[in-house]
Amino acid sequence: MLDTSAPDAVHRSPAVVSGITPSGSLTLGNYLGALRRFVAEQQQTRGHFFIADLHALTTDHDPIRLHDLTLETATLFFATGLDLSSAAVFVQSHVRAHVELAYLLECTAYVGELSRMIQFKQKGGRPRTRASLFSYPCLMAADILLYDADMVPVGGDQDQHVELCRNLAVRFNRLYGETFVVPELAKAVLGSRVADLAEPRAKMSKSSAASSAGVIRMLDDPDLVVRKINRAVTDSEGKVRYDPVRKPGVSNLLDLAAALCGENPCDVAETVSSYGELKRRCADLVVAELTPIQQRYHDLAHHPDYVRGMLTAGAQQATVTAEQVLARARQNMGLLM
Ligand code: AQP
Repeated sequence: MLDTSAPDAVHRSPAVVSGITPSGSLTLGNYLGALRRFVAEQQQTRGHFFIADLHALTTDHDPIRLHDLTLETATLFFATGLDLSSAAVFVQSHVRAHVELAYLLECTAYVGELSRMIQFKQKGGRPRTRASLFSYPCLMAADILLYDADMVPVGGDQDQHVELCRNLAVRFNRLYGETFVVPELAKAVLGSRVADLAEPRAKMSKSSAASSAGVIRMLDDPDLVVRKINRAVTDSEGKVRYDPVRKPGVSNLLDLAAALCGENPCDVAETVSSYGELKRRCADLVVAELTPIQQRYHDLAHHPDYVRGMLTAGAQQATVTAEQVLARARQNMGLLM
């Protein structure tokens, strides 16, 4: 029999939930804004970290590419250091409760608030826009609420989604009784928004950049990383100082170096005298950070069945919690149990 009582928040270690969509090969932004933090937090928390394959279906997609990217992303999760003994690591579609709770939340959300979501405004509005691009914030809320998450560690670009999730949880609790934990957004202090090196006013993005020149992928080889950083857009002032509004390119490089060495970007600026030196510093730090992850990735990639086995175990772990929360929501909404 499932326990459908609401959780006692005082006596448990904080639950964190976050996912990454396999819509492209992971970038340095995904690493600094999300993946690195998942690994750092997995020991002190009850972590649920997933590859959000269902979210990759909201826009045109190639099934073979999605399949391969899902496995690549999962392999990178483990290569970066996520560990099933500390956290549940799984593929979203392997835990069926995500889709079911998403529907219950669609029955809680308003059309007005969904149409104000930035992604829908940017990519939607055409006759052939997929209906899922409109409703996916409910799936995203389900991803979080299913695990009684206290915190959602994401990059600074996800505020609106977490805010909607909080609104839906509060509304559901008010309408149907205490059901969900209302989560907090846990923004990264450093690395929360890595910008595209070629277009420093835009976010470094795994699938939407016009060109890959300014996007560092976690699996880029060191030579390519160095080339991309050497070509990073700066400005004509020639003075290394941190000013994200007037000097977005240089400030992005300072942010990158700061996130990788755990310092403040203004302090990093004090230690370098030219753009060339700043680029060399950044390139060294990025290569040193990614090389061991890439080595572990290539080892694991030779054993896809081993990775799949870990994902099956992760989905089983996640299902235990997810089914309890789903049952609570179903019961409180009045569905016959
Ligand atoms: N540039 C970034 N800087 C810091 N954090 C970032 N994240 C993404 N880009 C940066 C964080 O990585 C996670 C990825 O979540 P996602 O894959 O579901 O969605 P996303 O934010 O839309 O990621 P991308 O890379 O921009 O993908 P596409 O191009 O497909 O839209 C989140 O925690 C995000 O904050």
